[in-house]
Amino acid sequence: MTMNKKVFLQTFGCQMNERDSEAVEGLLLGRGYETTPALEDADLILYNTCSIRDHAEQKVFGRIGSFRKLKEKKPTLIVGIIGCMAQEHGENFFKKNPEIDLVCGPGNLSQIPDLVEAIETKRSPRLAIDRLNEEYSLEDVRHRWGSIKALVTIMKGCDHRCTYCIVPYTRGEEKSRSSENILREIKDLEVRGFKDVMLLGQNVNSYGKGLPEGIDFAGLLYKIQETAPGIPRIRFITSHPKDAHTRLFQAMRDLPGVCEHLHLPVQSGSDRILRRMKREHTAQWYLEQIDEYRQYAPEGSLTTDFIVGFPGETEEDFMETVGLAESAQFDSAYIFEYSPRPGTPALKLEDDVPPKEKRRRLQCLLAAQKAMSLKKNQRFVGKIIQVLFESPTRKDKNRYSGRTREFKRVVAPSARSVTGELLNVRISAVADETLVGEIVS
Ligand code: SAH
Ligand code: SF4
Ligand code: F3S
Repeated sequence: MTMNKKVFLQTFGCQMNERDSEAVEGLLLGRGYETTPALEDADLILYNTCSIRDHAEQKVFGRIGSFRKLKEKKPTLIVGIIGCMAQEHGENFFKKNPEIDLVCGPGNLSQIPDLVEAIETKRSPRLAIDRLNEEYSLEDVRHRWGSIKALVTIMKGCDHRCTYCIVPYTRGEEKSRSSENILREIKDLEVRGFKDVMLLGQNVNSYGKGLPEGIDFAGLLYKIQETAPGIPRIRFITSHPKDAHTRLFQAMRDLPGVCEHLHLPVQSGSDRILRRMKREHTAQWYLEQIDEYRQYAPEGSLTTDFIVGFPGETEEDFMETVGLAESAQFDSAYIFEYSPRPGTPALKLEDDVPPKEKRRRLQCLLAAQKAMSLKKNQRFVGKIIQVLFESPTRKDKNRYSGRTREFKRVVAPSARSVTGELLNVRISAVADETLVGEIVS
């Protein structure tokens, strides 16, 4: 009997990477691999990486050192860096780290099983980063890590050029999958009993651009609702303010499956900084967009991303960001310190906000947002809302954790397993970002 080869796969970065990893794992399982949670047991180690901020890259660089020892113990071990850092650094990985055997960008992931086989037989490293701008190629992989929630990549790449952002260079041009192709995948998920489908793209709402069928993102949502009415929750991330049109808000109001949650990154509240970021919107325009969203989804949630300490950001600019957060009243926000990225246009601007000041602005905005989030969450107290339960909590097996349609985390006690069930919960309290309540039906 031959033992199956084992793969250790670790994922950094966004949900798109998560889905890519899941699909790559599926391809390897199809070739007879097993997975292992232990590095030492692996015959193949894959790190699916993220380049969005320096910190994300340092996490991966920090681990590469350990490969040498592992290879001394197991000379047949194959080590691969895949995803955004692979696309960005390419063959430099081989130069700096001879223990790496495979460097594979996001567009080449479907080749991984073949590349690994070639490395095994030829015992020479492989570089695969030439399919950056090609069509999405992982659509037929049915392997899923869960049975309740599923990620579905509907488009890849980004045609915007925000000056701080590396994504256009690591993920290439925008390419949408045909609606037929997406619907086939989602229908399959419906038949398999999935309850929550998250549509993924760097700019989901510019979906359809360049497709011959003449469809936009709202059009896709209508088709999904019609094709897979049995999926109670459909979500999407991320939207760009420039493409957040009335038609999208209408679809969110009209379609029972589409959840009332919009993640709309604003980045800054200062028009001067937004211009330097090349965001293509002003603070006022953004506020008008969200006003319109709230007319269509008055109970819906709204979340955002901010970058603080962008080159040239003065205290005044920063205070405009705090002001925008106050006017917008987000449910929650991700806040990042600006991190200069190789090859991006903003690199030409002087990174002139000192690290300490970036940190202070981050903490200041974080504290303001936390207070607002807490206050916003109070609107649910006393209400009965629908929760999709996902699992027992780590600390207490008799308490279950799930999400509302607005993507709020809810914890409630239950003596029986409620995993995978949609149940009504009466909210009694708010603890930080989590709502606490009792199941009523
Ligand atoms: N496509 C999405 C965002 C992808 S990156 C969009 O346009 O909204 C996710 C978030 O990371 C961004 O919204 C931004 O806030 C942050 N980010 C991107 N590049 C960054 C950088 N160089 N430094 C700090 N944060 C950054
Ligand atoms: Fe990056 Fe801007 Fe594209 Fe988002 S829209 S991925 S921030 S370039
Ligand atoms: Fe990171 Fe690439 Fe996603 S840079 S955020 S993994 S698209």
